[in-house]
Amino acid sequence: MTAEQWTRRHILQGSAAAAAALPVSMEAQAAPPGRSPLRQEGAHMTAVELTVNGREVHLQLDPRTTLLDALREHLHLTGTKKGCDHGQCGACTVMVEGRRINSCLTLAVMHDGETVTTIEGLGTPDRLHPMQRAFITHDGYQCGYCTPGQICSAVAVLEEIEAGIPSHATGDLDHVAFSDAEVRERMSGNICRCAAYPNIIAAIREVAGEKKA
Ligand code: FES
Ligand code: FES
Repeated sequence: MTAEQWTRRHILQGSAAAAAALPVSMEAQAAPPGRSPLRQEGAHMTAVELTVNGREVHLQLDPRTTLLDALREHLHLTGTKKGCDHGQCGACTVMVEGRRINSCLTLAVMHDGETVTTIEGLGTPDRLHPMQRAFITHDGYQCGYCTPGQICSAVAVLEEIEAGIPSHATGDLDHVAFSDAEVRERMSGNICRCAAYPNIIAAIREVAGEKKA
């Protein structure tokens, strides 16, 4: 058969045959979300202990469970959002041992014995964290889906600047200081599809000012 004789039907038939020949483990990786390997019966379970928002929790998890799924599906802390599930949007940002992390990119078992803070642990509707309050004051959201990740990231960003940790936007490595450019760079992993960026920066600027005062 010449190249000209190949049709779309031939290519699809070839792809189907290749998929049928996949070894079992690769089939599992290629499975759609509804048939995730995380839901397969008989998986070996592992004990994981975490301190989440000040509370000790003991979980029995499939070792392939991401920290994001452990929080949302097992602990029902649904404030942390699943956007892309691929480390691209920042919606799943939480703090582990005081440092921000994309919880979709890390396995829960890797954090056995560690401390996790989610948006629920930062503040409550009655006792808002200053960053939560500032996001409300400055209208730092529209649909709100990215907001828990934005707020966790913003809190960590100010701590990183205070600790003198430089970013790609830092001019003088000996004097890391707050600036809009620093914040934009450090928050660049948190995507807002509603494009509330100017208001998010305004909220972070206000909290940075309060901390300075
Ligand atoms: Fe984790 Fe998008 S859900 S980065
Ligand atoms: Fe809608 Fe950010 S407020 S995605």
